[in-house]
Amino acid sequence: MSGFKVSVDSENKELINDLRKTLGRKYRVVEQSKTNNTEIHFIDCIGRDKCRQVEGAYSIAILEGERETDFSAAENLYKEGFAEVVYYPFRKLRLRKLIERFRDEIYTRNQLNRVFEIGIELSSERNLEKLLRKIVKTARDFTNGDACSIYVVTREKDEELNTGMLEFMISEGDTLKESYERFKIPITSNSIAGYVALTKQALNLSDCYNIPEDSEFTFYDTYDKLYNYHTKSMLTVPMLNREGEVIGIVQLINRKKHRETKLINKAVTNREVRPFRKDSIQLIDALASQAAVCIENAMLYREIEELLESFIEASALAVDSREPSTAGHSRRVAELVVKIAAAVDAEKTGPLAGYSFNADELKQLRYAGLLHDFGKIGVPEAILLKAEKLYPWELERIMARSACARFSTLLNIHSEEKRQEILKELDLFEKTVRKVNIPIPSRAEDINFLKKMRKKRFTDSAGREMTLLNDNELEMLSIEFGSLSPEERKAIMSHVEHTYRFLKEIKWTSDFARIPEIALNHHEKLDGSGYPNGRRASEIPIESQIMCIADIYDALIASDRPYKNRLPVEKALAILKYDAMDGKLNQDMVELFISKKLYSIDNPSSDNPNNFPQSQTQANRGDQ
Ligand SMILES: [Fe+2]
Ligand SMILES: [Fe+2]
Repeated sequence: MSGFKVSVDSENKELINDLRKTLGRKYRVVEQSKTNNTEIHFIDCIGRDKCRQVEGAYSIAILEGERETDFSAAENLYKEGFAEVVYYPFRKLRLRKLIERFRDEIYTRNQLNRVFEIGIELSSERNLEKLLRKIVKTARDFTNGDACSIYVVTREKDEELNTGMLEFMISEGDTLKESYERFKIPITSNSIAGYVALTKQALNLSDCYNIPEDSEFTFYDTYDKLYNYHTKSMLTVPMLNREGEVIGIVQLINRKKHRETKLINKAVTNREVRPFRKDSIQLIDALASQAAVCIENAMLYREIEELLESFIEASALAVDSREPSTAGHSRRVAELVVKIAAAVDAEKTGPLAGYSFNADELKQLRYAGLLHDFGKIGVPEAILLKAEKLYPWELERIMARSACARFSTLLNIHSEEKRQEILKELDLFEKTVRKVNIPIPSRAEDINFLKKMRKKRFTDSAGREMTLLNDNELEMLSIEFGSLSPEERKAIMSHVEHTYRFLKEIKWTSDFARIPEIALNHHEKLDGSGYPNGRRASEIPIESQIMCIADIYDALIASDRPYKNRLPVEKALAILKYDAMDGKLNQDMVELFISKKLYSIDNPSSDNPNNFPQSQTQANRGDQ
């Protein structure tokens, strides 16, 4: 009965009873006034005003009476489009036949409606794999096909044959497992798929092993042999886009009598499999054209996404290449944040159970990870790369002045004793400058000695008075921790705001709208001691809390500077633990990071012989 009702729009009880009798128990006759769920709508056409079209239903003009004029009145209604069928109630047998005929049409119409409904559903799917899976499932549901495959036309060409290529994308079936193993075939009329793609015509084969000899195409039984399967009936339909171009093909295999039957051998196949129905071609054709548009869109979306991805990766590379000592930092942070977030998402109990991350959110986090330090592009390279308290040219200038002082001493001081004394002092000065320049805490006596030397006057080669150090140089050499002055540290810390400003300029889609905010907060600490805004726990997005852990960890183990060795993993983890206990980092997340060994990515080795503690160098650079 296919689940449809017959409705009668008539007050005429006799007619309704007559219809009930005529149609038998197979069709339920309901009165129009009580329902709108009609697939067939009978209209009493005694008067034109009563003849109403009901959307989505068949309208049948029913004529009571036997006079010829009545016939023509009814037929006029039909011609004028008020009714799709004319029925004369006195010919009861004819009504039954009509209903039978229209049952099939209605079935197809309903299926087509489903195709359009599914079309809407498909059009909202941007993920190509999921989209293909939905298409093959729908095609199999419509036709009772045991298996369905999709091939898509690629941009490549077969050089030898000078033809386009079809790429196998997916196969799903009841009997055999899904397959996503990609392979390509040339678009030639030798193969069934190629033939359909070339002719743009559907091909319905009742038995693939019995193809007429004069056919251009051949059935290749490689798949059957490989999987011990028997392909019998096959329906191959081209997928045409709006411009009528073939973008791929849908191939259905073995229409079964019973959906649940598995075609485990040839005998079962021969018993169970039927040719695909003719009306299936229309259905799959409609589905294929919907699918074509959706696949094209999904592929376009993927291309745009790949473009965005490659642009983001290139941006990360550009930033990372400015600091060779931390090469690959952004990529590793991106990898770590996704790992941590996925692990947080998997937590079903405990303090992290309330957080979840779907695929889009993970991607957003990955992009934020790749771009979190992009603002370093706005920080002068000299500051980023500054390894010692003085810039190299500053040190050279000091040494040149010292050489000058040495020369004028040799030239102008005639007392040997005095001369030796000054030269010795200059020796000590140069040695002290080089020693103090290294970014470790300096001895007070060294700084005092430099202060004393700052006051001394020498003459240059032109006889002008000069000093060995200026105030700025002395100030820089007096930096207590690390190599940066407070201003330079501020400049490095400003990378977060640069990052935010840059990322805000990008017109992100809604899926990635939070990237600027996540990146902005990656140096904030839960206790408010971070920057740039000194936000506290509740104000820091969970994604930024994740990123902070990943960022610190990578900076500790990856940074390889002249005076700072990469820390061994255990030491880096100990620092994270300490920071978590100190209320700076999310303790639950740090514990998860350690217990699940989420840090074990492609870690750089820790074999650098220079082993300075992190707190003295990187920690106060403001870039981790
Ligand atoms: Fe940063
Ligand atoms: Fe970073």
